[in-house]
Amino acid sequence: MNDPAQFSVRLAPEGTQFSASPSLPILQSALLAGVVMDSSCRNGTCRTCICRLASGEVAYRIEWPGLSAEEKREGYILPCVAYPLSDLVIQPAD
Ligand code: FES
Repeated sequence: MNDPAQFSVRLAPEGTQFSASPSLPILQSALLAGVVMDSSCRNGTCRTCICRLASGEVAYRIEWPGLSAEEKREGYILPCVAYPLSDLVIQPAD
């Protein structure tokens, strides 16, 4: 199997950057890179990890992560279950 390309993820505003594999949830790649992101359930239900996507695209492999359609439209993501489809810039949710 080919090694999939890595995407770069930047956490705004502090600027922490790490590489993320398209085959892992963003949170998992952050942990592997030693970057701490808030999390709890890690299955897309508790919303502890909620962030806002400032740029880039993500995809989910579960039917319905704990986000409303409106929140998704507004750019909120759940990094514990979101897989990167491009380089990303992520901001805190508030
Ligand atoms: S850690 Fe619970 S939704 Fe992401």
